[in-house]
Amino acid sequence: MAIRMFSSSTRSIPELGNVPNHLAVIMDGNGRWAKKRFLPRVAGHQQGVETVRRLVKACIERGIGYLTLFAFSSENWRRPTEEVSFLMSLFVAALEREIGRLHANGVRLHVIGDLSAFEPRLIDLIRRGESLTASNDKLTLTIAANYGGRWDLMQAFNGLVLAYPEKAGVYTEADLEPFLAMNYAPEPDLFIRTGGEQRISNFLLWQLAYCELYFTDQFWPDFDEVTLDGAIASFRKRERRFGRTSEQLLPAVPPAPTFKADTRNV
Ligand code: IPE
Ligand code: IPE
Ligand code: MG
Repeated sequence: MAIRMFSSSTRSIPELGNVPNHLAVIMDGNGRWAKKRFLPRVAGHQQGVETVRRLVKACIERGIGYLTLFAFSSENWRRPTEEVSFLMSLFVAALEREIGRLHANGVRLHVIGDLSAFEPRLIDLIRRGESLTASNDKLTLTIAANYGGRWDLMQAFNGLVLAYPEKAGVYTEADLEPFLAMNYAPEPDLFIRTGGEQRISNFLLWQLAYCELYFTDQFWPDFDEVTLDGAIASFRKRERRFGRTSEQLLPAVPPAPTFKADTRNV
């Protein structure tokens, strides 16, 4: 799978394929999955890691180039302290356990978000995982951790202003994009949210501009290949117009052949 840099759906029409090139997922419903089984919420998070492992494999098998997973939002710090610290330890444990396997499977890892809030051990693990897998090109797996779409836009604006103060007042979309946390990836073409809620919850605000949205009631620990294929089938049926009309998308029809009347025997 070729590595493609940021491509903008508002400045050019993206190349379209049968399978999404970039899948972005809000993995929601872990707590309710656990509650339904009379288990503590954290059991749902633990089970959710297994779903991530299966999804990475399924994406590679389907030729999806980029997978971006929302693991912890900038607002998730509002949760009870015990749940937050469990999630942090789970992140550390999952990275320690999975990084070798990800590397062996040709996965390039990126973590986006404000990492400064994490403990040094976690930051170090992330950085080591990213550099170990930097030249892999089967699948780019991005984990959004302490990520918020507004945080991303603000850090990008600030980066841009500091880099080019003389352009204030005339910045363009193309000027901003290199400063976004996911500047190495094309925009997502398919977004899936599990758990029944139909909202973006401060995920990729800039990049979802023309993304196809798919919502399922299934809780994240139950998410499987069948649901993934259902979402891809729905994606395939959609007409992606990017602002144009349906008629503009029809293949050009060759002009009808003209018949000359045979008048010799008249
Ligand atoms: C998603 O599941 C995981 C995180 C936000 C970390 P939730 O923990 O939000 O599960 P529900 O929505 O409460 O069921
Ligand atoms: C969104 O889920 C964030 C992640 C999945 C990491 P939430 O469970 O935090 O979203 P809200 O609060 O229901 O919008
Ligand atoms: Mg939730």
